[in-house]
Parts: sequence; C-alpha cells; structure tokens
Amino acid sequence: MATFQILTFGCQMNVNDSDWLANVLLAHGHHRTDQNAAQCIFLNTCSVREKPEQKVRSTVQQILNTRKQNPPELIAVLGCVAQQLGEDFFALSPRLRLVAGPDGLPKVPGLVDELLAEPQLKISLLDFTKSYEEREEGLALPTGPTAYVNIMQGCDNFCTYCIVPFTRGRQKSRSFSAIMAECRRKIALGACEITLLGQNVNAYGCDRHAQQARARGEDFPSFAQLLREIAALPGLKRLRYTSPHPKDMREEDIAAFGCLPALCPQLHLPLQSGSSRVLARMGRGYDRERYAELVRGLRHVRSDLALSTDIIVGFPGENDADLEATLSLMEESQFLSSFSFCYSDRPGARAVTFLDKIPKDLQHARLIRVQNLQDELQKQLLQQRVGTSTEVLLETPSRRWTRAGYAWQGRDPYGTLVHVAFEQEGEHQGELVAAHITEAGSHCLFAHRETANDRNDR
Ligand code: SAH
Ligand code: SF4
Ligand code: F3S
Repeated sequence: MATFQILTFGCQMNVNDSDWLANVLLAHGHHRTDQNAAQCIFLNTCSVREKPEQKVRSTVQQILNTRKQNPPELIAVLGCVAQQLGEDFFALSPRLRLVAGPDGLPKVPGLVDELLAEPQLKISLLDFTKSYEEREEGLALPTGPTAYVNIMQGCDNFCTYCIVPFTRGRQKSRSFSAIMAECRRKIALGACEITLLGQNVNAYGCDRHAQQARARGEDFPSFAQLLREIAALPGLKRLRYTSPHPKDMREEDIAAFGCLPALCPQLHLPLQSGSSRVLARMGRGYDRERYAELVRGLRHVRSDLALSTDIIVGFPGENDADLEATLSLMEESQFLSSFSFCYSDRPGARAVTFLDKIPKDLQHARLIRVQNLQDELQKQLLQQRVGTSTEVLLETPSRRWTRAGYAWQGRDPYGTLVHVAFEQEGEHQGELVAAHITEAGSHCLFAHRETANDRNDR
C-alpha cells in the first residue's frame, strides 16, 4: 500500500476527476498524505491557457528539489497537458513514469501497485476511447452537501481558439442509467445539490455515441429531459449545470428554468465576445443578436436569473469597436460575474494561423476594462440585494467573517457566496437556511439567520 497526493489545475471537470481518483486510491488501500512525504504524486493538469507545459515542468522540478532526501517513487502527469505532450514528460525525471490523458484516467488506480513494484516501468495512456468509459466507484464516503456529476467527456465544437477538443477528444455522452445511478448514489451519501458537468452540457445526447445507443434501443434522453429526471430525484434540493453553449440552448432548456423548482436560477453562459465579427472568426455558431435574444428569453422565464460568463479579449483582429461591443453586451446582459482572459495561441487550434494577432499590452489594457466593468456590475447587483432574504446551503465555517461571532458560508440559489452569522457556535453543514442579507462585499454577501422581524420588515 502506498501514500499519495494529488495536485489539481484547471476546470471543474479536473477537480471532479481528482476527487474520483482520490476516492478510488483510498478504496484500493492507499493513503493520502502530505506532498512532502507522499510516495506517489499525481499532477492533474490543464492546457487551456498560456504556458501549461512550463507550469508542469516547474512543479515537478520543485517537488524534486524540495525532496532530495526522500524523492517520490512515482510522479504521474495526468489530464490535458499529459494528453498534449505525452511521453515527452518522461525525459523530465526517471521518477516520472506515468502519463495519462483524460480518457486514460480510469485505468490509473489499477496501475499504481505495478509501477511501485517495478521502478523501471513507464506507462503512457493516451488513446481516446470510443464511448464514455465508466469508472469504478471507489469508497462510499460522505460527500458533503454539494456534488458534481459528469454527463459527458470531450467536445465537438472546435472553437478556433480552443485546445479542449484535442485534449479531451470528441464528445461522448455518458449513458442515462449511469448518470442517474451516480446522482442517486451521491444523494444517498449526503449531497442535496448536484452540478452536472461537461464541456458542452446542453449538447448532451447529440453525438455519435448517443446516436448509436439510441439505434440499439437504449434510452437516451435530451438534455432537458435529463434535467427533468434528475430534478425529480427524492432528496435532491438543488440542480445546476456547467457549461452550456449558447448555440445549443433550445427552447425547452430555457423553459426548464420556469418549470423545475429544483433548477437553480443561475446560468454560466459563455459569451466570449460581444462582436458578431469576432464570434464568427471564433467559430462560435451564434452572433451578438442571438446571444442577446437568449438572455431576453431566459429573463422572460426567470426574471431573477443570475448570469455569468467567459470572455476572451485580444482575439486576433479584435479592434476597439469590437471591444466596445463586448462591454455593451456585458451591461445589457447584467452579468453577475465573469471569467475573462487574454487570448493566447494554443497548439493545434485554428486561430494560431490567424495573422492579425493583438500585442500583449493592448490585450492587457482591454482585459482591465472588461474586469473593471464586471466589478462595477457585480457591486451594483450585490448591493441591490441588501435588505432582502435568501436561502443558503451551508457548506463550511466562514473564512471571511471579521466581526465577533460565529458564521457559516454557503451559496444561495444564484450561486453567490453568502456568509451567515449565528448567535452560537454549532455544526450546520448541509443545512438549508433562510438568511437576511445585511451587507454586500465585492464578491459575496453577509447575512444573518432570518428572524420574524426580518420577515415583518418585508
Ligand atoms: N466548454 C467551455 C469552455 C472551456 S474552456 C465553453 O465553451 O464554455 C474555459 C474558457 O477558457 C473558455 O470559455 C474561454 O473563455 C477560455 N479559453 C479557452 N481557450 C482560450 C485561449 N486560447 N485563450 C484565452 N482563453 C481561452
Ligand atoms: Fe473549447 Fe469551444 Fe468546446 Fe468550449 S465549446 S471546450 S470553448 S471548443
Ligand atoms: Fe483545462 Fe482540460 Fe479543463 S484544458 S479547462 S483541464 S478540459
């Protein structure tokens, strides 16, 4: 039996993959320990933005430097950078003996004993599978109130800037029965909120694998049907998903926000740019008007819907007017939050060949404008909520409560972090509490347990 540690970079899918890996390693009898003592170190990597390879190399180097006296017996590079650079990583150290892309991950736990028994052995798992590969279950550990469930692997969109279709492969929807079984299992282990994960969740069921399964007579629902089935599971109080693609947002997906009480009024809908010209060159499959129309449709069904987004600035050929178009659509859409990035070339992606690249300093200046506007929008939207009440699913003791007293933190239905004050110290994990908002921070809200007085004030 060995000791291990996992270091995770990248998106929520990677975080979920690492949680799965840890659970299965524990089930195999291994123990999680400190990074400075572990026999096996797993790096679960991301290549979506700049310099991922250097990040992996310097992390490995740093581990080797700090552990000269007791070097780890096995270092493994997993995830998207492993898929991209594969066996090149073996040259980094004789201890680096396993590389596995996202589709190779399910086999990783079963190889650890063999790799530890044979110090010369090197293994690479870089083939894409043809269908979503089910993974062994691992330990049935209590999950905490929130849980993630993968509904697909990969992406078919090939947006011209993006590496993901090359690192995660083509889209493969997971079978309906396996998704339902995992949701039921996580609810039984303590989750009352589930977030469905995938690179393009609302294209669930729209890939070759799903079509073949349907042709065999297998039950393969649409995304909206899947939402309905999961929302109806006993014990589930909240359902969310990330990320949908605007081009695949159908009428029934919009309508779901009006008719599924468990579906939270929150949506991460990546915009990327507010300029139709730039969106066309990004290969996104929608234009500014279509995005604005989607937002209007969503708000018609659910006026309080909290929207968040991703924005890329400095895409090749982006000019000042394009940036203004992005800023004005951000305002019109009233995003509660956004993740914004400077465009960078990703190997294999089509935009690498575009000649009209934007200089770095101009990209940064534009990024600051986007971020300043977002800060302003968020401040206003949070401020408007002071004096109102909300429902918070408490997760952990609060890390940001500066006043005297006790507080727990959790998220409200809109996905905003809320710190809720209590009069006494106590255990509140997993409680869904009514809270009265007293103050807005820059990115979170402060509240206390709602009292009869708060209700009378309304
Ligand atoms: N499937 C998700 C995105 C996954 S990548 C979606 O389509 O929404 C997460 C975000 O990283 C993207 O939304 C995009 O904003 C950003 N991103 C991806 N490639 C990038 C690149 N080459 N340069 C800068 N940002 C990029
Ligand atoms: Fe990348 Fe586009 Fe697929 Fe998202 S939808 S993962 S941005 S190719
Ligand atoms: Fe990164 Fe791969 Fe996720 S590139 S964003 S870890 S899909």
